[in-house]
Amino acid sequence: MRPLIVAANWKMNTTPADAAALAGIIAAASDHPDVIRVICPPFLSLAAVRDAVAGTGIEVGAQNVHQELAGAYTGETSAPMLAGLATWVILGHSERRRDAGETDALVNRKLARALDSGLRPIVCVGELLADRDAGRAEEVVTGQVRACLAGIDPDALAAAGLVVAYEPVWAIGTGRNARGADAAAMADAIRRVVAEMATPSLAESLPVLYGGSVTAANAAEFFGEPAVDGARVGGASLKRDEMAGIVASASLTAAARLAASAG
Ligand code: 13P
Repeated sequence: MRPLIVAANWKMNTTPADAAALAGIIAAASDHPDVIRVICPPFLSLAAVRDAVAGTGIEVGAQNVHQELAGAYTGETSAPMLAGLATWVILGHSERRRDAGETDALVNRKLARALDSGLRPIVCVGELLADRDAGRAEEVVTGQVRACLAGIDPDALAAAGLVVAYEPVWAIGTGRNARGADAAAMADAIRRVVAEMATPSLAESLPVLYGGSVTAANAAEFFGEPAVDGARVGGASLKRDEMAGIVASASLTAAARLAASAG
């Protein structure tokens, strides 16, 4: 049975002081042990969030990592620097693809680095509106998955607990979310590629999250899809009540899946 995961992406929001306060509030308001909760604050707030969520079960993630271990890369952060601060890392978010020119080939290198550094990766994929309108959404997303995972040892992916986040670019920060059925169809397509490239068992155990304007009001539409294992939340993850509602909704699904598997 795959776990339910709710991963907050705070993007470029919160000072360390704000982040500590918000993380503490969210931790208290979203205490459902059957849901894996991850907060990904800005790098500068990682330590504050780590301390604020200690003992709450919330895990901490970075929003990016450099593909090299060290060197002349001004302004960058390497995987060894994250030791003790973060156990998860977001790779290839569409905003980094758009603003920092990240390609699938680069995400592939970052993924390899994350795996050998013991970070749990969330690899982000998603099509542009033009791709969807042209009927190419699945082709684009499965192509991204293939390129991001190319040449990587399936056992290492399994050991690290690879997560894929399907985040259609047109749904991010727009208030316009995909339909649950579309997210589920894409999750199925992603697993087909992973089964082909790696192993059927990795595909079967792979958590696929949906991201793109998820709120407490619409989360159940995604969590109600057996192929979708949680959410990546941007804007709504900065609000206590939204996070509380989204995690509560995920917890209902986790309980339902447990009941279904038990009997
Ligand atoms: P929004 O929830 O603000 O649309 O952002 C989604 C996202 O980018 C998750 O990584």
